[in-house]
Amino acid sequence: MQTTRVAILTVSDTASLDPTADRSGPAIREALTEQGFECPYLLIVPDDELRIRHTVQTWCEQGDIDWVITTGGTGFGVRDRTPEAIRPLIERDASGLVHLLLSTSLQHTPLASLSRPVAGTVKNTLVVTLPGSVKAVRENLQALLNGGVVNHALDLIK
Ligand code: MTE
Repeated sequence: MQTTRVAILTVSDTASLDPTADRSGPAIREALTEQGFECPYLLIVPDDELRIRHTVQTWCEQGDIDWVITTGGTGFGVRDRTPEAIRPLIERDASGLVHLLLSTSLQHTPLASLSRPVAGTVKNTLVVTLPGSVKAVRENLQALLNGGVVNHALDLIK
């Protein structure tokens, strides 16, 4: 069986200036590596719509990335532009995954309602935007991996 390749993008003004401040990107890589995923890319960009979109688009067009995960910039802060950066790229909306993320996250905190997740496919790549905290990342990844949801989605788009 082929390994699933995941590219991780941390979106944060702070971490783009000081990569040691990035905790959620490495947390995703660690959690997914433990689950047998391959994570060849972990990049950091500031909360800049064009840079986010360009990076994700490049990965999706590469043809060897199955899943792109972004972390950060999904909230209500004036600099939070990740959903706006990703949405124009999405070819097929995965509203069920968005529902899953929000409904499970709301069981952890009402503040989950402040996240504006986007999920869908771009070519043969699944793209999912996660919030920026390590806690949120862990909870959201658990929701996606539980019951083989993402694995099944990835099998279907290969
Ligand atoms: N989702 C889960 N599962 N757990 C959390 O702790 N934090 C919320 C929310 N989603 C949270 C969560 C908070 S506090 C914010 S502000 C939003 O995600 C947006 O986060 P972001 O702007 O870092 O992307």
